[in-house]
Amino acid sequence: MFAPHLATALLLIASSAFGSRAGVQHLLRQQADTNSTNSFDVASCPGYSLDSLTSTKNGLTAKLNLAGAACNAFGTDVANLTIQVTYESQSRLHVNIFDTANSQFTIPESIVARPTASGSSNAHNSDLVFNYDATPFAFWITRRSAPNATPLFDTRVSSLPPTPIAPVIVGDNSTALDGFPLVFENQYLQLASSLPLGANVYGLGEVVASSGIRRDVGTDGGVGTIQNDWARDIADPIDQNIYGVHPIYMEHRFNSTTNTSQSHGVFLFNAAGADILLLTPPSSNVSLIEYRLLGGTLDFYFISGPTPQTVMEQYAEIVGTPTWQPYWGFGFHLCRWGYPNITAVKEVVAKMRAANIPLETMWNDIDLYHAVRDFTSDPVSFPPAEMKAFIAELHQNNQHYIPIVDAAIAKQVNSTDIYDPYSKGTDLDVFIKNPDGTEYIGQVWPGYTVFPDWFAPNALAWWTEGLKNWTAAGINFSGIWLDMNEASSFCDGSCGTGIDISNTSTPFLLPGVPGNLLTNYPEGYNLTISGPSGNITVNGTLTFDAPAPATLSARGIGAGNQTDVELNAPPYTIHNANGRLSIHALATNATHTGGYAELDTHNLWGLMEAEATHKALKTLLPGQRPFIISRSAFASAGKWAGHWLGDNFSQWKYMYLSIQGILQHQMFQIPFVGADTCGFNDNSDEELCNRWMQLAAFTPFYRNHNIKGAISQEPFVWDSVANASRTAIAVRYALLPYWYSLFANASLSGTPPVRALFWEFPNEPELFAVDRQFMVGSDILVTPVLTPNVSSVDGIFPGRGKTVWRDWYTHDVLDAVVGANTTLAAPLGHINVHVRDGAALLLHETPAYTVEETRQGAFALLVTQSADGHAFGKTYLDDGISDPPGPSTTVTVQASKSSVKISGVGKFHVAQKLTQVTILGVTKKPATVTVGGKTVKSTYASAQQQLVLTGLSVDLNANAGTTIAWK
Ligand code: NOJ
Repeated sequence: MFAPHLATALLLIASSAFGSRAGVQHLLRQQADTNSTNSFDVASCPGYSLDSLTSTKNGLTAKLNLAGAACNAFGTDVANLTIQVTYESQSRLHVNIFDTANSQFTIPESIVARPTASGSSNAHNSDLVFNYDATPFAFWITRRSAPNATPLFDTRVSSLPPTPIAPVIVGDNSTALDGFPLVFENQYLQLASSLPLGANVYGLGEVVASSGIRRDVGTDGGVGTIQNDWARDIADPIDQNIYGVHPIYMEHRFNSTTNTSQSHGVFLFNAAGADILLLTPPSSNVSLIEYRLLGGTLDFYFISGPTPQTVMEQYAEIVGTPTWQPYWGFGFHLCRWGYPNITAVKEVVAKMRAANIPLETMWNDIDLYHAVRDFTSDPVSFPPAEMKAFIAELHQNNQHYIPIVDAAIAKQVNSTDIYDPYSKGTDLDVFIKNPDGTEYIGQVWPGYTVFPDWFAPNALAWWTEGLKNWTAAGINFSGIWLDMNEASSFCDGSCGTGIDISNTSTPFLLPGVPGNLLTNYPEGYNLTISGPSGNITVNGTLTFDAPAPATLSARGIGAGNQTDVELNAPPYTIHNANGRLSIHALATNATHTGGYAELDTHNLWGLMEAEATHKALKTLLPGQRPFIISRSAFASAGKWAGHWLGDNFSQWKYMYLSIQGILQHQMFQIPFVGADTCGFNDNSDEELCNRWMQLAAFTPFYRNHNIKGAISQEPFVWDSVANASRTAIAVRYALLPYWYSLFANASLSGTPPVRALFWEFPNEPELFAVDRQFMVGSDILVTPVLTPNVSSVDGIFPGRGKTVWRDWYTHDVLDAVVGANTTLAAPLGHINVHVRDGAALLLHETPAYTVEETRQGAFALLVTQSADGHAFGKTYLDDGISDPPGPSTTVTVQASKSSVKISGVGKFHVAQKLTQVTILGVTKKPATVTVGGKTVKSTYASAQQQLVLTGLSVDLNANAGTTIAWK
């Protein structure tokens, strides 16, 4: 349930870049002082009626006319709309309702390129059917295969009773959802659709949801979810808007009579600030989803699934498949904010080596910078020459280096302060402006700043040059970490003009300094450090008034004639948990090239920066896959970058919550994602870090990152953590061919690498809310410990008794409880991992210190036969770095009762041989075992039904197929 929690006229907002409980908080005036009240009775809005319907090649088009007097609820009603219905493919139906005059902002094709209809799709061969009532206009989407079943989406809801909505922001007087008609105004759009009562809804984000992966649709008269879409720099609060925006959801419907299920997806292609509500009106037999948008159009895609996985693949057909990751990207990454100098960083690298904990990539945070400015390194603490030598040594050792890049560019403080990225950017006109054309000034770590305008024609060239000069100056990075790109700014909107630019301090205390010492530890930790962190002082210069004017004549694409748009305080108040949209962000009237307003493009900043950085890296590291992690994202960002889950806390709760974050981003097509392992805000401890280093070894992006001022949490700090890390990393590195193949499938088809259990077992309702366990691909099930001070863990093992789960380490068959939890031993340092029957996993036989050394070693094969002997697996192999991917070889393993066939197809030369094969499920000890017709030695263990062959030399290349047989 969405918990209302703000009760005073002033809102305490946790500082974004580090957590509220770090002791640093902003005391900011919030939305109460705007004139927005949301109290308008939307129920009196007239809706629309449809006429002039004509058929098109792939669907239909019609006019929608306002069906009565304008209500002008939160702006001006648009009298004339057009609806276009396009059957784009068998599984995808596109319904776009837009203003006929084309005045509303729409996301330019250059930012998100979308597919067009395939020639032959039409109303007769699509999985989905568009149905409508002309007056009042409403539409509903059904499956062709079940025309009389409850529609998948149904806007015939205007007569449903109002639903109370708790105010989450003081000053938001909207105590009721007062009706559900279609509203299309220049500054407010509303559309609601019914859902089955208590529907299984997943997605919508980014969010840390108290409900877990299954979103809360509320019960009788209650609002379960208010998903706010306004990208926001904030330390991972629960049930509030955070860094990214993804207006896509999947609904999973289970039929208990037939024991079957079907999933479908709904994607709203709109980047406006928005509330998306899930609720259940009082005494109603349906739940609802309602979209409330500050602008744009109602541009919907419906995708038919019918499985969770196909929904995700079909979403990828719209927004694009994720970028290819380099093989080394799956290694272990280490980072922290607060390494004082290069000596400290070198020491960490040396200690990792001494402890024999694999370190693939060393990262630096803003400590690296000179005067906290992008594209610099501090001449004293991180001298360029020493950095150059350090990075070169990492490269020699097959390791990598990644620095942070902040969104904001420092403004030169005076005429003698030469900062090339700023002066060059000014010359090239690449920064965001005030409405009057003057430079827009914000404030971030370096003091006062400007912000790249990704719409500016010179922005990409300027950005590329900045990165290039940085490399030349010694920072020879292998990838880039994009931070603060919501974009974040510490002023409330513009910092104004006439300010003291030479003041480079931050308007709050940095973590770890007196007055803001970090004294919190994970839940259950016995505090040895006591005492308060000191009182919070809030300096009155924290906020600055955003300048007038409040209106803009050109709002964006196609908006040349749109006037009277309230940019600073849109009439409808979305539930941005910061309050005003400009708080801790850019002013919404900040202006981009082409006349775009920040109000319309705010949620696109991170996506556009990721694209520019991706393109820059392609220029600077030609032939290599760009490795980028971005904090902010919008739909389609996975094409350019991965993501981390932002500023979490060193708490058990946040380790658990990281699982839902990772699963969410699989749906969002940003599968390369991970959490700050061991926790970012506050101090970690040995037990939490031990468990977390093990859990994160089974998530795509594996990085330990820590806040400045907290105690150290590198995996060598505690012996037990070092051990646990070595163990888990060894499993991870053994599994790299599997991870890599899963990501190849993601990049080729949008198939999610990490999966919720029900995505694999969609007809088992007991799995629909499971998010304390997860699967890697279809074959590995991870059951992490998520609570302190325990030595066992409960987990459910899907398959209703028909699936066999074997322990990863012992190969013992698990005696699992059917359809309910099984308790597993889980001493500290042990993470439960199980392999499903029917799997054939190609592994690296000997995990080594780096990914490259691991890759150079031989392969092993693990086959887990089902009762009938079946097992199947495909492994994708290539050089792991080329962009675009060059030749590849797919190794297919197919087992039957008493044989395993191995065959390669493709042009990539696989130099390493397969030297060891383990087959599980062999029911009796074979008398003879042959490989390619020649008898070989083997060992057999009856307890695990395990046949092991060693000392082999099987060629995995094309045309070198081998059969292992036994009798
Ligand atoms: C905020 C980021 O989320 C965090 O990871 C980073 O350490 C700080 N900024 C400092 O750069």
